[in-house]
Amino acid sequence: MVEATVADHRVRADRPAHVPETLVRDIDMYALDGIEQGYHEAWKALQQPDMPELVWTPLTGGHWIATRGELVKDIYSDPTRFSSEVIFLPKEAGEKYGMVPTRMDPPEHTPYRKLIDTGLNPSQIRKVEEQVRQAAIDLIEPLVAKGQCDFAAEYANVFPVKVFMAMAGLPMSDVPKLSEFARDMTRPAGNSPEEMAESLDAANKGFDAYVDPIIRSRRGGSGTDLISVMVNGTINGEPMPHDKAVGLISLLLLGGLDTVVNFLSFSMIYLARHPEKVTEIREDELKLRRGVEELFRRFPVVSEARMVAVDQTYRGVELKRGDMILLPTALHGLDEGANENPWDLDWERKAPQHSTFGGGPHRCAGLHLARLEATVTLQEWIRRIPEFSLAPGANPVYHSGIVAAVENVPLVWAKS
Ligand code: HEM
Repeated sequence: MVEATVADHRVRADRPAHVPETLVRDIDMYALDGIEQGYHEAWKALQQPDMPELVWTPLTGGHWIATRGELVKDIYSDPTRFSSEVIFLPKEAGEKYGMVPTRMDPPEHTPYRKLIDTGLNPSQIRKVEEQVRQAAIDLIEPLVAKGQCDFAAEYANVFPVKVFMAMAGLPMSDVPKLSEFARDMTRPAGNSPEEMAESLDAANKGFDAYVDPIIRSRRGGSGTDLISVMVNGTINGEPMPHDKAVGLISLLLLGGLDTVVNFLSFSMIYLARHPEKVTEIREDELKLRRGVEELFRRFPVVSEARMVAVDQTYRGVELKRGDMILLPTALHGLDEGANENPWDLDWERKAPQHSTFGGGPHRCAGLHLARLEATVTLQEWIRRIPEFSLAPGANPVYHSGIVAAVENVPLVWAKS
């Protein structure tokens, strides 16, 4: 079905018979047009009034894209019509993805999710608050006197990873190779679905080979770290099969390593450009804590997919079982139909609408940890570096993919 009829370096899929030509648009989720201006800006540019709410692109193996917040939300929340059987694009790569339980639909998914929640629920996360706060302080304190830093390299890429590795009882020295695997899973290299599948498969196997001996050594032990709690938990009253444990621990690593990292950098670029927003939360602690949800609305970073579970007509469009639909979470939080003045970060917005953490049964299990990390970062940063801006001539580099990324976030402030 995928043919190398290349006008440029990217392989294009043939349009299936049930896809009308009027719904075809060239959109490359891994190389969005206008990405130089910003990741959110590039997605949002597609949300023009004349853009159909479902479009089909021949790129990345050929798939649908939901372009309105309402659809992103709806599709996430309905696993009977939109399955998690494959969630990464291109589909060829998604079929290689072996993490657990993200590719399971209920009821198979339910006991795995219950187990994950025992380790990441709000009361468990409250227990690590002091540890998380200390990790933030330890990173920020040495920066204060420098008057500048690359926030991405010196804080965002380190802090959530440090927190997660401590919770999982893993050494920081393992981080560089894990971060590389995470990058290759969420932004796999290659110009064709086959090349991308190969890159993702190698990274997935890298995670598996890394966690395999760790799981074996922690099975049957009495450790209280996140991995021990998971691998000694039960699924429907039975010990978890080894292959499922490998997939589940790999997923926790992936979830803990790539998302918060990039979300924090996107947030900080905005705050550096909008000092008045920083003043507001510096003077009002409650506003800061309540406003973190708005930060998640404003800076979504994930674009995963669902597989059409049954032939159906959805909002007037014919879909066939096996079709893939990309759900860019940026197109929910930033949709005017969901939130008034979506570009504005309004710390006091009432009930911000977004799918930054997905929705339905797979809604992010790590969101309480992510919230804590974001809150603590804002509190401790602003306490020590109350005023900061982007360095003159700063040019952050943006990447799109399953998880968006940003590099080069040079911040400056008055030395104390
Ligand atoms: C800003 C930070 C984060 C964002 C934007 C984010 C986003 C998401 C999204 C969109 C999903 C849904 C996947 C799907 O439906 O297919 C998800 C699931 C998940 N996330 Fe996060 N995540 C974040 C942080 C974390 C952290 C820190 C962890 C910690 C380990 C984590 C662990 C997970 C897990 C385990 C799932 C799978 C849940 C399931 O399949 O039931 N996430 N996340």
